[in-house]
Amino acid sequence: GLPESVTIWEVGPRDGLQNESAVVPVGVKLEFLERLADAGGKVLEATSFVHPKWVPQLADAEELLAGLDRRGGVSYPVLVPNERGLDRALKASVDHIAIFASATETFARKNLNSSLDEQFAMFEPVVARARAEGLRVRGYVSMCFGDPWEGAVPREQVIGVGKRLLDMGCDQLSLGDTIGVATPGQVTALIRGFDRVDQLAVHFHDTYGQALSNTYAALLAGVRTVDSSAGGLGGCPYAESATGNLATEDLVWMLDGLGIAHGVDLDKLCDTSAWMAQRLGRPSPSRVVRALRG
Ligand code: HMG
Ligand code: MG
Repeated sequence: GLPESVTIWEVGPRDGLQNESAVVPVGVKLEFLERLADAGGKVLEATSFVHPKWVPQLADAEELLAGLDRRGGVSYPVLVPNERGLDRALKASVDHIAIFASATETFARKNLNSSLDEQFAMFEPVVARARAEGLRVRGYVSMCFGDPWEGAVPREQVIGVGKRLLDMGCDQLSLGDTIGVATPGQVTALIRGFDRVDQLAVHFHDTYGQALSNTYAALLAGVRTVDSSAGGLGGCPYAESATGNLATEDLVWMLDGLGIAHGVDLDKLCDTSAWMAQRLGRPSPSRVVRALRG
């Protein structure tokens, strides 16, 4: 059945901004994070310690972390692909990281410059060292349902990648529909393929308008952590046809209607997304933001 409460894992500052071609000033990013915390956000994915040439928008990760006013009770996870990224993240005193694996060969090459098998060798020392340092470690699996180059992705392949990340020591797995093609039946079936639903989170992009339906299916299947992006910003620069994430406002509207606690103030969040839309020079794609602030 449905839960009493859900953890919203806010990915706007990372997934939301990584695809923006015009560099957003670090001061704007910091204000975005402040506003998200003011709105009640408890998990704010802040940035990525990836190669600056691969994601120029997040090349300011060190500066951002140095300027961030980290609040008690708020977690600020960052993406880390390899040991070089972990060195940088540790120097910036982060306590929560996320590695990001691909369920497909093609996307592993495009996103990580590695093969499907090689990616595990890259992640293994990252997870081991991070755990030894007492960090929390999330593992993302991308292209869980469809891949723009390979088409439909076999469920067993996704489960295989996910289980390897859990065996490596990840404390949570986020199942990513990178290009937003999944429908609810597929979501239920994939979740049932894992032994422990309490270790799972879901990460839906809204390309085909299915993100909220898929989230509802995931909640019914027992998932209690949902990724979303304020204002529906987002997309992956290395995945063709990936659009924004599930909008946090759309998620909050549904959770409020269902009486599921989440801790986020919708009014403050809409103000934040309207403010960010102004900074980015275009309206928010979130239906709820448009309905309430349009
Ligand atoms: P590579 O070029 O193969 O790296 O990139 P390398 O190991 O061969 O190293 C080459 C040079 O880069 C070396 O420098 C390294 O030190 C340096 P040199 O010795 O030549 O001077 N280097 C780094 N510098 C800074 N930070 C680092 C780093 N690593 C190496 N971390 C790499 C491999 C993985 C680094 C690259 O492919 C990369 O950065 N990829 C990241 C792509 C990315 O961020 N994609 C978006 C996030 S994933 C996503 O959005 C999906 C998700 O939302 C879920 C979903 O929707 O499904 C999470
Ligand atoms: Mg994503």
